[in-house]
Amino acid sequence: EKRRLDEREELHGIMDLAVGFYREALERSEEGGTARRYLEGRGVDRATAEAYCLGFAPDRWDFLARHLQHRSVPLELAEKLGLVRRRDGGGFYDTFRNRLLFTITDIHGRAIGFGGRVLDDSLPKYINSPESPIYHKSEVLFGVSLAKGAMRETASAIVVEGYFDHLALYQAGVRNVVATCGTALTEGHIKLLKRYAGNVYTLFDADSAGRKATLRAMDLCLDAGFPAHVVELTAGEDPDSFIRKEGAETFSARLAKARPVVDYFFRQLVRDEDTGTVEGKVKVIDEMAPRLARVSNAIERELYVREISRVLGVDVRSLARKIGGSSSPAA
Ligand code: GTP
Ligand code: MN
Ligand code: MN
Ligand code: MN
Ligand code: MN
Repeated sequence: EKRRLDEREELHGIMDLAVGFYREALERSEEGGTARRYLEGRGVDRATAEAYCLGFAPDRWDFLARHLQHRSVPLELAEKLGLVRRRDGGGFYDTFRNRLLFTITDIHGRAIGFGGRVLDDSLPKYINSPESPIYHKSEVLFGVSLAKGAMRETASAIVVEGYFDHLALYQAGVRNVVATCGTALTEGHIKLLKRYAGNVYTLFDADSAGRKATLRAMDLCLDAGFPAHVVELTAGEDPDSFIRKEGAETFSARLAKARPVVDYFFRQLVRDEDTGTVEGKVKVIDEMAPRLARVSNAIERELYVREISRVLGVDVRSLARKIGGSSSPAA
């Protein structure tokens, strides 16, 4: 156990070294110029780069490996962090090359991994650090350490998909934000958010992947009894592109129009199904019933049952019965 603690400390130390090298490469190296221009092009200022510990991995196979070796860091440990990879013929090479780096931190702000973006259109667009003894993806949300205070103050958390979405909101002064960064929201994430907030807003990309992620996240919140809202953006936009196009004020207006989870599900279903037919109505009710059953506030549940049965033209008692005894609205 002691040994494992020592190793974790050592891994944190290696991460800190790596952050230092990559920060330096971004801020001061000549080859970092492309990354600095890229950030400028995306409207990221110096202070934000500092707050996020942004870095740059130069286009070399051994930039980090050599630095670490120079500091007598066992590269086997850097390999555990996914910073370097083993060469077939022996030795190690850098995982992150020619990429802008986002530093992923734990709740205390300690570096535990990187997300690296290419500076052009090549693929894969992002590569992320793997799981490691100090990085458990199902328990980490990007930006938590920056968002903690604001989540407590507002008692709410906004969840976005991407690194740049997080950054765009931060620059726009919205601070109670965390990002999933390519992984699905987990129960572990919800547990983490519950420590700070009593309410969550999902603000995912307005594309099909984002909608799917939204539905999954909403079910997860319902299961966890965590009050949730959905913020919808104009089709094709993500929070970063939306704020750039529409400005922070229009964005705030969208935020204020966030829909409660049940409302969101119902709207999606009514949009997708033909509620002019019996079949369509049955489909909507089959999808809504289990979700209504999970609304813990009895009054809220009753109001939704009334509203939905009115819109679909079904008897309020039939819907209440379908949901289960406890939720039947007092006649
Ligand atoms: P930008 O183009 O830089 O604005 O990125 P984005 O954040 O808008 O990208 P996108 O909406 O495609 O993806 C959302 C998030 O998913 C990203 O911020 C990454 O964390 C993650 N992601 C995107 N593409 C990849 C990929 O190719 N590999 C991995 N592992 N993660 C990705
Ligand atoms: Mn852990
Ligand atoms: Mn997307
Ligand atoms: Mn996006
Ligand atoms: Mn984007």
